[in-house]
Amino acid sequence: MPSLLAADFANLQAAIEAVPGADALHIDVMDQHFVPNLTLGLPVVESIRKVTPAMLDIHLMIEDPDRWAPAYAEAGAESVTFHIEAAAAPVRLARELRRQHARAGMALRPATAIEPYADLLPELDMVLIMTVEPGFGGQKFLDLCLTKIRRTRTLLDQVGGDIWLQIDGGVSVETIERCAAAGADCFVAGSAVFGADDPDTVVTALRELATSAQPGGAL
Ligand code: DX5
Ligand code: ZN
Repeated sequence: MPSLLAADFANLQAAIEAVPGADALHIDVMDQHFVPNLTLGLPVVESIRKVTPAMLDIHLMIEDPDRWAPAYAEAGAESVTFHIEAAAAPVRLARELRRQHARAGMALRPATAIEPYADLLPELDMVLIMTVEPGFGGQKFLDLCLTKIRRTRTLLDQVGGDIWLQIDGGVSVETIERCAAAGADCFVAGSAVFGADDPDTVVTALRELATSAQPGGAL
């Protein structure tokens, strides 16, 4: 899914129309406290909701998601992801998001291990593993995160159900196969998509690479 962080913020509707083949639109909300960058918030998400029926995947890089996250579900986002490092009561928050009919996602910074949160997995619909330090697009993919992707895949297989394993940060045609081979099944790409002349072609290319690299391979 393309990250709108790499799109032209003065022309978000045009950016959305440039990726009709995307499975969802990834929207990065930053508050200049949890991360050293400031992007957009609820009013912009509400405006995006009005111009597209696409699945909206909200990535909250903010302090106090317990307070702010449910409003994004109420605004009609299909998926809302909070950072576990910032959440005070993640089980309560995940249940609240689901009650508002959103998928509940938990994100981990590169240095945050998955193991302490293994018991939370049944409460979640997605785990987001950051493969750069959150805050900015266009950073280099951190290969050291691959072992965490593998360990998370193992835990998710033990839990069962339909919990997505999303990768965000430095995903490109160079790196997506490594992530898929490690067990990821959902991919965010910002600069790789919107830095291209034809963003939708890159979406298709990334999906094909990921599908054929996933364990089990292409059909
Ligand atoms: C970074 C954001 C990402 C960002 C990815 O903190 O969470 O979604 O847009 O950008 P690229 O794909 O350029 O690394
Ligand atoms: Zn993101």
